[in-house]
Amino acid sequence: MSNKDVNRPVRKAVFPVAGLGTRFLPATKVMPKEMLPLVDRPLIQHAFEEAREAGIEEFIFVSGRHKEMLEEHFDYQPELMETLESRGKLDMVERVRDSEMPEGKLFLTRQARPLGLGHAIWCAHKLVGNEPFAVMLVDDVVLADTPCLKQMIDCYADVGGNMAAVMDVPRADTAKYGVLDVESENGQVVGIKGLVEKPKPEDAPSTLSIIGRYILQPEIFEYLGQFNKGAGNEIQLTDAIAHQIGKQPVNGYRFDGTRYDCGSRLGFIQANIAFGMRDPEIGTSVCDFVKKQAGTL
Ligand code: G1P
Repeated sequence: MSNKDVNRPVRKAVFPVAGLGTRFLPATKVMPKEMLPLVDRPLIQHAFEEAREAGIEEFIFVSGRHKEMLEEHFDYQPELMETLESRGKLDMVERVRDSEMPEGKLFLTRQARPLGLGHAIWCAHKLVGNEPFAVMLVDDVVLADTPCLKQMIDCYADVGGNMAAVMDVPRADTAKYGVLDVESENGQVVGIKGLVEKPKPEDAPSTLSIIGRYILQPEIFEYLGQFNKGAGNEIQLTDAIAHQIGKQPVNGYRFDGTRYDCGSRLGFIQANIAFGMRDPEIGTSVCDFVKKQAGTL
């Protein structure tokens, strides 16, 4: 198959949001982890905005029990808007309006059982249909001048196929990631000859690891639909991508920017500081505060 067949435009993005968020209990006892705020917007909105800026037109949430707040967050809230308008808070009106989902563009499916990331993505197969799509893992937040998914889509226009965002991690951490067996390096594009999900440091073929941004071809659903179990006895997206090697282009993309693991408390706090330091209103004060705190150590 030539690359030309597999770089059709990416219009849809899948957001797997059925997970429990146990690492943030009790904060996530009632509230979905994707609603935790990074400065002034919940994590799910950061992911939505990144996808929107990359040209994504349809947003597919793979949701689960007790996650209704995520859909509601993107709704038009008439009482709130009226109150803000009557108080003349027009900047807030703008911000709230910017958080709305374009009408008819949010699609929902459910993952009833926690059978793994690959299974969550499979649950979206009807809504994705027969076209390429992006996957956004909301826990992974990337601070970058050009949003990470936009960088990937620009590269994908040339390279096509399946693509995952990658970065080097400390060898001690490979068991948290999908890790690449590297075939070739060409600037930011990394050819992949194999992928291993969550290898022990001593077994990892490299330290180059997948972070939560993917562009995938719909053929991936054929493998996912076989429900093969992999690492941790879960249906792994990494295994499905590995299965495409040799059939379609499969590449890693070394993105520009800094990734924060907002699925961990440390990463979440780091992200809040880093984003806070760049906030147009409070950034200078946050920087001053951080400097002062560092001085007290
Ligand atoms: C998932 C993927 C893994 C990837 C990681 C990035 O793992 O399975 O390949 O490296 O996201 O955050 P999870 O963090 O859901 O265990």
